[in-house]
Amino acid sequence: MALIEVRNLVKEFRRPVPVEGPLKSLRRLFRPGFTIHRAVDNLSFSIEKGELVGFLGPNGAGKSTTIKMMTGILMPTSGEIFVGGLHPARDRRRHARQIGVLFGQKTQLWWDIPTIESLRALRAIYGVPDTVWRKNVELFRDLLALHEFEQVPVRQLSLGQRMRADLAAALLHDPDILFLDEPTIGVDVLAKERLRTFIQTINRERRVTVILTTHDMGDIEKLCSRVLIIDHGSLLYDGDTETLKQRFGGRRTLAVYVDGGTALRTGAFDADWRGAFAVDRIEAEPNRLIFRFDPHQTAVGDLIAAVAERLPVRDLLVEDVPIEDIVRAIYLHSERLEARTAPETVSDGASRRETG
Ligand SMILES: Nc1ncnc2c1ncn2[C@@H]1O[C@H](COP(=O)(O)OP(=O)(O)O)[C@@H](O)[C@H]1O
Ligand SMILES: [Mg+2]
Repeated sequence: MALIEVRNLVKEFRRPVPVEGPLKSLRRLFRPGFTIHRAVDNLSFSIEKGELVGFLGPNGAGKSTTIKMMTGILMPTSGEIFVGGLHPARDRRRHARQIGVLFGQKTQLWWDIPTIESLRALRAIYGVPDTVWRKNVELFRDLLALHEFEQVPVRQLSLGQRMRADLAAALLHDPDILFLDEPTIGVDVLAKERLRTFIQTINRERRVTVILTTHDMGDIEKLCSRVLIIDHGSLLYDGDTETLKQRFGGRRTLAVYVDGGTALRTGAFDADWRGAFAVDRIEAEPNRLIFRFDPHQTAVGDLIAAVAERLPVRDLLVEDVPIEDIVRAIYLHSERLEARTAPETVSDGASRRETG
């Protein structure tokens, strides 16, 4: 059995339906009062020891819900999960010893006490031996520059520092498996780079298996050789990052901010510009033009220079293509695959036949 086995995992949430108008309470008797929302829909995958796997997907895709089930915080509606041979939700105490968890949106540290005191409190709560605690705090001073802010209460830390503190907390007890839910969300570029390097080091040098969720393709490109793409609770892709990049990724966007209205008027240039700059697509909004391009074909400097020649540029931003675009491309791609086999499969049953 692999280190992590997930089979036909489903999680449904009840969502209350607001009942309005007269005779509210009477009507509630005849209506169920809720709808069922399937946040995770029949997920299956397995992860081997030592892997660093990324869960990529748009907001609301079901990434956090999946992590919460793997960490034992949420009970699955149906399906099975084994982590290190344990059932996360049923064997919570033993499971807690083998995993470390970080939720980027929420700290597990105490808001008002110095960071190092939070780490001391966790030592007591989790029964971390003193020698292990000391060794790890030394390591975190080294690799996360913990000493720079360890006397500062969490509420005064920058977001990047807070993530570093939370990473330290998640790893204090030497877990074999680390679950990171959006570890770089909202963090600036330099701090992101530092977090990524640390995660990579922990995986390579300590052989910690890492599962991280993100909607940032940059995290995946830097860290993960394997990626699982989730959308509407289902698995769209499970494979290597390289193939994904070659097929759909590697693209960049250049957002150009201009004064009111100018951008829309340049919409007419779309075809010209696409030809001239070798960009895939241009989206126009009143104050912003977005160019999507392949950095291997179009040098971003040339593109910026050409745009600046033609438009009164106020600001520029170069980014990875958003995950929503990659997801859309995968859907389009699989439709095209289906369309190719369609002539054989849609014709009436009698004439259906195999063609070599
Ligand atoms: N406790 C909950 N109760 C009801 N719906 C929830 C709950 N948690 C998540 N959901 C819903 O499940 C879906 C998946 O959420 P989530 O797993 O947080 O997505 P992601 O982490 O990929 O952004 C969303 O539509 C979300 O609104
Ligand atoms: Mg989430």
